[in-house]
Amino acid sequence: MGKSKYMKAITVEPKKPGTAKWMDVPEPDMHEGSILVEAVAVGVCGTDVDIVEGKYGWSPHGQQHLVLGHESLGRVIDPGPTGGFKKGDLVVGIVRRPDPVPCPNCAVGEWDMCSNGLYTERGIKEINGYMSERWRIEPEYAVKVDPSLGILGVLLEPATVVAKAIEQVVFISRRSFWEAKTILITGAGPIGLLATLFAKLYGLDVHVLDRMESGAKPDLVRAFGATYHSGSALNIGFKPDTIIECTGVGQVISDCIQQMGANGILCLAGIGHGGTTRSLVTADVAANAVLNNNVIFGSVNANKRHWYKASQALARVDRTSLQKLISRIEKPENFMNALNRKPDDIKVVIQFSEI
Ligand code: BGC
Repeated sequence: MGKSKYMKAITVEPKKPGTAKWMDVPEPDMHEGSILVEAVAVGVCGTDVDIVEGKYGWSPHGQQHLVLGHESLGRVIDPGPTGGFKKGDLVVGIVRRPDPVPCPNCAVGEWDMCSNGLYTERGIKEINGYMSERWRIEPEYAVKVDPSLGILGVLLEPATVVAKAIEQVVFISRRSFWEAKTILITGAGPIGLLATLFAKLYGLDVHVLDRMESGAKPDLVRAFGATYHSGSALNIGFKPDTIIECTGVGQVISDCIQQMGANGILCLAGIGHGGTTRSLVTADVAANAVLNNNVIFGSVNANKRHWYKASQALARVDRTSLQKLISRIEKPENFMNALNRKPDDIKVVIQFSEI
């Protein structure tokens, strides 16, 4: 009997809510990469929820389904002909691929700054993701994970988003003399809490704001040595040098804009939709930004430099703290439970095989 040509995967028909399924799909094709990987775990994030709700996402050209998942962790089954990887290595797959033109940024490896929008992303935009029993990857887009991290390696992708955001803040700060002291992080989800842990490595006075008044999030923030605030950023009692906004919620963003300190930098890292906001008058916001030399900028995705920086930073954080970020583990066939967020959820992970 020949080997089965099918495996199970979590798929969705993008832009059609209610179409997510755990279904048979063909085994990964060689053109997807020379390394064959067995899935260990895949993290779930807001982008996956948006895709399942039909708000975002694109299937590969000419196909109906997109295999979901961009926060991967897998074990190499077959390293293929290129050196550098061996059977059993733990690997994570990079999310974005450069556009084919390529634009100047993609041409120099800064696909996270793609300037023509023709980039593709695994599990999000036109390339199948990592929520399948097996996946293939090109060696140049596979990142080896320290085996001692175990399942915590699944946090590498969100950590890259944080590493890029922090790097950009540091680049922007070079425009003037800058002594960073205080940072406000809005949203105590996985991105906000990883940002908290990384900002602590820089020795900053870290403040985290979330709407939860009690429970796992405030407890974790305090355990990580940061100060927790619930309510509005307007009431935190100081003007932060740096703000990393991870909620994507209009009112929180608007409060952050008003609360920034002189020369302050506000990094928008959350992706939200709609909602209502007590409106700010654009000219007043601009005048305030001018008079305070403020910078408000957006940051998305990560390139190889950030993958390297994130793996270095993750290695420096103690494992007990990282462990606390994974709040729930679900089986792939129960993926809808993983996508339904509960108030105390931080990072929910779908586990495909034992580690
Ligand atoms: C992913 C990024 C991606 C972005 C937009 C995020 O959830 O972490 O890699 O670029 O979504 O698609």
